[in-house]
Amino acid sequence: MLFRQLFESESCTYTYLLAGSKGGEALIIDPVYKKTDHYLALIEELNLKLVKAIDTHVHADHVTALGALRDKTNCITVMGKQSSVDVVSMRVEDGDKIEIDGLSLAVIYTPGHTNDSYCFYTPGMVFTGDTLFIRGTGRTDFQGGNSLDAYNSLFNKLLTLPEETFVYPGHDYKGDSCSTIGEEKAFNPRLQVSSASEYADIMKNLVLPNPKMMDIVVPKNKKIGIIQKTSKKNNRTASAYEAITQFKKKDTLFIDLREDIERDKYGEIPNSVHAPYKNLPNLIKPGGHLEALAKQSDDQIILYCAYGERSAMALKEIRAAGFKNIYHLRGGIDAWINANGPVKPASRLNKIKP
Ligand SMILES: [Fe+2]
Repeated sequence: MLFRQLFESESCTYTYLLAGSKGGEALIIDPVYKKTDHYLALIEELNLKLVKAIDTHVHADHVTALGALRDKTNCITVMGKQSSVDVVSMRVEDGDKIEIDGLSLAVIYTPGHTNDSYCFYTPGMVFTGDTLFIRGTGRTDFQGGNSLDAYNSLFNKLLTLPEETFVYPGHDYKGDSCSTIGEEKAFNPRLQVSSASEYADIMKNLVLPNPKMMDIVVPKNKKIGIIQKTSKKNNRTASAYEAITQFKKKDTLFIDLREDIERDKYGEIPNSVHAPYKNLPNLIKPGGHLEALAKQSDDQIILYCAYGERSAMALKEIRAAGFKNIYHLRGGIDAWINANGPVKPASRLNKIKP
């Protein structure tokens, strides 16, 4: 596995770049906007393909690079279910997995610092965001923070991980880089408490100023989605209502760009075919399987994903490759379900070969 810990000195933020192997797919956790070019240069030097950019929660002390990295690399953005951001490509919840080639992160919901805080675990390492720091823990006094939730997340979730697990926090203000679960259990002063109420008392008595740029940074970090509507003149966006109408006419081919994990969990639009977003470049190149499918049929094609972000990105690529009569479903299957569109359990038989 390839692993890099990167630092942004103004907000003392750690960002993590992980890949299954050199030259393979990569993901990044908690990237900072002002370091975007630095990440892109490193990704290029290491010959990686960035496929996922993840934030552990909505940050209050720095602007996220999620949107910028998506715009530069076509990677997908990932945050938790509870995050009050306008759009991300994929939302996760406790027990989910975030996968790239050669690497899988277990998703642990750890509310407390904020109500949308998540940690990510792969055997041997846990990325703790602002839930657990080295000899410290995240404040719980804004953005839906709650000390009792934080106690539960720390004691009943993170501290139950194997003691030798390396802890990689979202920040460090003293110059430390990592720790272990065992070390934090033994030496983290905030964790030497015997009850949730004792922990809550400690947190209540911390009187901390708000992060300097919080009022500017938080609204920015909540507005990171791609613009899904194509131009008025040449609109290639279908609303859920329009897509359902087309579906009833039976002359539309629906293409699902999501991953197996999401399809298994939420189902699919009946009779759609499955073309995972990451296989798109291969599928649409001359002679690719999607190209062949589009040529065979006069039907309109509607691309869809979870919330409309991957389909908006795919639409651009596909139209650039010369495909015609292609639309994308604004708001994704989420909007479709909210508009009472039919859904059935996902099939494994309808995947277009890469
Ligand atoms: Fe935070």
